[in-house]
Amino acid sequence: MGRLKELRKYVDEELNKIEDPDKRTSAIAHLYGVSLSATILAKKRGMDEELSAMAAMLHDLHAYKSGSYYDHAHLGAELARSILEELNITTKEETDIICEAIYHHDDKLVVDSPMDELLKDGDVIDHCLKDSSKPVKEKEQKRYDSICKELGIN
Ligand SMILES: [Fe+2]
Ligand SMILES: [Fe+2]
Repeated sequence: MGRLKELRKYVDEELNKIEDPDKRTSAIAHLYGVSLSATILAKKRGMDEELSAMAAMLHDLHAYKSGSYYDHAHLGAELARSILEELNITTKEETDIICEAIYHHDDKLVVDSPMDELLKDGDVIDHCLKDSSKPVKEKEQKRYDSICKELGIN
């Protein structure tokens, strides 16, 4: 089994523990949605597609497991590290890259490393395009505009 598949199997099992069916569906849709967006961006930017997808699969898991978004990016980075160490599917350097991206993913108004930015942008694509009839949130507008420009879409 490939390591992305192995990670997804782990994440699926965690998400399947969410009792509320609506919350469970939206959690699954978001993690897989950001994972796809991140992969597209990684292809476009010449970055590692697998690590991008892995970071996306883990990025909000702490919020879904705890039911709270309080400090979820920083706590989520710690959770991601413990999962990746348990599964033993990444090198120390890869684990650091994934966890740093998760740590910074909620800092949408500042610019961090290329992988951090890729995860933020993947998150914004899912937020803005899962229902394109809804207005883009003000705090995500600038980032969304620049992603559309990069991808050549309006
Ligand atoms: Fe988040
Ligand atoms: Fe997210």
